[in-house]
Amino acid sequence: MLQIKNLTVYVEDKKIIDNLSLEIPDGEIHALMGKNGTGKSTLCKVIMHDPNYVIKSGQIIWHNQDLGQMDPTHIAREKVFLLNQSPLAIEGVTNAEMLRMSLSEIKNTQIGIFEFHQKMQEVCQKLGLPQSFIHREINVGMSGGERKKNELLHMWMLEPELILLDELDSGLDVDAIETVASSIKEYYEKYKPTILIVTHHAKILDLLNVQKVHIMNQGKISQSGDKSLAMKIENEGFAKTFDISGLEQNE
Ligand SMILES: Nc1ncnc2c1ncn2[C@@H]1O[C@H](COP(=O)(O)OP(=O)(O)O)[C@@H](O)[C@H]1O
Ligand SMILES: [Mg+2]
Repeated sequence: MLQIKNLTVYVEDKKIIDNLSLEIPDGEIHALMGKNGTGKSTLCKVIMHDPNYVIKSGQIIWHNQDLGQMDPTHIAREKVFLLNQSPLAIEGVTNAEMLRMSLSEIKNTQIGIFEFHQKMQEVCQKLGLPQSFIHREINVGMSGGERKKNELLHMWMLEPELILLDELDSGLDVDAIETVASSIKEYYEKYKPTILIVTHHAKILDLLNVQKVHIMNQGKISQSGDKSLAMKIENEGFAKTFDISGLEQNE
């Protein structure tokens, strides 16, 4: 289970995450929604130990260890994966080079080239990506949709057990949303990972089996509920939805 306990995070002298607690039992998919600038991406990046953020207090417990105390290589070894809201381009490093190196580091052993290439080919095919993506520089010259699919290629290759999907669906057309959602669904059915999905749209939650929806406001979880909460937000916006009573209150 992922257990975030009383987490407070600063960037420089600004508090971004404010005493936030959140639990996702193993194998569940939870969604995180909230207005722009409320700290959703920060939460994802802090879990990956992004050096821009300083944990002032609290813990991020995964596999009975505090990720907040670990360096990024060890976090990757604990099978944690973030699909960034804005995937970065890395010139001079190809998908194959990066993935083979990461896999060797995660598994602490050399990865067989034949097996590796065979899997890369299968995953490209699954995602509707041309085989040339195997040797493309990471995200360089790729469209928004291709970048998201390229990140999914990384997910399939690295086989994470905790997956953070930060606005996977933003900037995608309707068909691409369905392709990526069905890819996540297939991955989920195969590996039963624990997933936190940050989104503004109820559509992707509908396509996946989301057990719980959390609303983040000013660095905290202000409310949690089921999928119907996401539908209400999509139809009515955050301000009006917060007036609806009868939802589980976190605090
Ligand atoms: N590296 C950073 N440096 C300065 N401010 C940051 C940084 N990262 C995030 N912030 C600030 O933290 C707040 C939350 O940002 P973010 O987590 O991206 O929000 P969300 O993903 O919910 O839209 C914003 O005010 C943003 O400007
Ligand atoms: Mg964000």
